[in-house]
Formats: sequence, C-alpha cells, structure tokens
Amino acid sequence: MDAAPYFPDLESIDPSLNLLDEIQRLRETRKAVLLAHYYQEPEIQDLADFVGDSLQLSQAAAKTDADVIVFCGVHFMAETAKILSPRKTVVIPDLDAGCSLADRCPAKIFEAWLKSYPDHEVVSYINCSAGVKALSTVICTSSNAVRVVESLPQGKPIVFAPDRHLGQWVRAQTGRDMVLWPGFCIVHEQFTAKRVAILMAKYPDAQLIVHPECEATVTRMADFVGSTAALLKYVQERPELRFLVGTEAGILHQMHKARPEAELIPIPADNGCNCSLCPYMKLNSVEKLYLCLRDLQPAITLDEGVRQRALKPLERMLALG
Ligand code: 13P
Ligand code: SF4
Repeated sequence: MDAAPYFPDLESIDPSLNLLDEIQRLRETRKAVLLAHYYQEPEIQDLADFVGDSLQLSQAAAKTDADVIVFCGVHFMAETAKILSPRKTVVIPDLDAGCSLADRCPAKIFEAWLKSYPDHEVVSYINCSAGVKALSTVICTSSNAVRVVESLPQGKPIVFAPDRHLGQWVRAQTGRDMVLWPGFCIVHEQFTAKRVAILMAKYPDAQLIVHPECEATVTRMADFVGSTAALLKYVQERPELRFLVGTEAGILHQMHKARPEAELIPIPADNGCNCSLCPYMKLNSVEKLYLCLRDLQPAITLDEGVRQRALKPLERMLALG
C-alpha cells in the first residue's frame, strides 16, 4: 500500500518554540545542508548554507557530503539533487512548489512530440522533470545554455525545451537553428516591452538587466541579459547607481546586500498585479522548512531507471564546468 501523502501540518508546531533556534539545532542533528535559490524569501536565504542560481545549486548538491539535502527552491531543483545524490534524503519544504515550465512539459507528451525530430540532439533546460531529463542529450541552465549548445557538433539539428524564450535567446547568441518546445515561465513572461519602455523613460540613467526567460522583445532592449547569478554579479561590478531588474524580485535581497547604495527597481508584471514574485517559490516558508527538518518529509522519490537515464545528460552538463 502507498504511504499516506504528507502535508505540512502548521498547527503541529509548538507556538512556544523559537523556530530559528530549532532549525539551527535540527540541521546539526540531521547533518543537513540547506540549499536556497535566489528567489526564496529573504529569511530563508539568510538561513541557508548556500544560496545560488540553478547551476550553482546543482553543483552544490552534487558535491555535498551531508546526509540530508533540504532544498529551498522548487520541485525540479530538489529532484535534480536526488538524481545526483540518490542515497541522500532530499526534502523540500512544500512539495507543491512546481514550475510552469516543468509542469507544462509532461514526459509522455514530450516523448511523443520528439518522434517528429528523430535525428535531433535534445537540449533541455534544467527546469523540467526527471522524465524529460531522461529523454535528453544534455541539460543546461540559464547560465550555461549558450556554452552547452555550442558544445554540440555544428550541423547537428537541435531541439530545445521547455522554455521558448530562453531557446530564442540562445538561438540569437549562437546562430544555431533550434526547434523550440513552446513553454514559458509565468513570471518572466509578464514583463512586457511596453512596461519596460515606460520605466526606461522614467529612469533614463538606469541599467536594464533581465533574465533570458523574458520575451525577446524585452531581452533585445536590455543592457545585460543573464542568469540570476550573472545579474547579481553585474550589479556588484558595475559603477551605475540605478538598475531596472527584470527577474523574480527575490534576487533583490542579495543585490541590496551587495550594493546598498544602489537603487534597484524590480520591473513589475503587466497583469494588474504590481509585483514580480514566483507563486511556486513563495510556497516555501520558515515554518515549512522547520517541519521538513523535523519530519524529514516531504522527501523526493524517483524511479531508479528514470534516475539513471536522467543522470547522464546532467553529468554531461556538469562536466562542461
Ligand atoms: P536561474 O537560477 O538559472 O537563474 O533560473 C531562474 C529560474 O527561473 C529558476 O526557476
Ligand atoms: Fe518556474 Fe518561472 Fe518560478 Fe522559475 S520563476 S520556478 S521558471 S515559474
């Protein structure tokens, strides 16, 4: 019989506990490492052993010697850690923390779609399920996508999935023709050229920096396009005092720490809501982080055959450095 599903029971938390102290105590007794993506709430980033972008986090997950990986990010990230470290317990504060890219590219449908492109190399963005990774030649993240595509032999036809915007951007950088799966990130697709143009007119001295998950109409306007880690580095290294930031607003926490004197203006979504937050990333909370350290649940599980097939394209990416 299958085990009962685990749901974080916030009411089971003793209200007299100091959760930050408890998390500190449990991470030691559990021999756990806390990995957090830049889009996590600031208090989670401040608790983490390591904060990074998708590539940095997968590298950290591959080399940690901890017994338990607590992945404060979304499901595909925790699943990637499990693919790389199958003997470790990998937990995520909220199992419902999905991703519009991963969720809208089901492995079975992707496999059927790939039949139209039998001789193609399959480059998959890490924002996909283990099932999709298992169907791929090589994985990439937003920080190494150009290098990964350039590593494939010239003339080889390529399928790029599941982010059409990142795919378009890589196509423009590399000149490689690629068939694109039509997925998109629900956060980055909300930043429109119209909204960006209004902000640029208001702040003509600002540097426009955006993530390659944004539409081409937006990336074409930018002074710099890069992964979350690359955007942070750009803000750290540039002398300008004002930046328009086209990515999920969680990254502003580290940007503020790095450049307290700079003005960082997050580009708001164009959907009536004035924010730019990922609803999946924001499902995690300090309370759920405490519960997953206490209960070692919800844990990521994977079919071993799928895991082994997904490992190969991931290792191929990691070998590229
Ligand atoms: P990076 O971590 O590669 O910048 O990707 C951002 C993202 O949307 C993760 O889900
Ligand atoms: Fe997925 Fe976009 Fe959220 Fe990243 S920001 S987890 S790509 S929905």
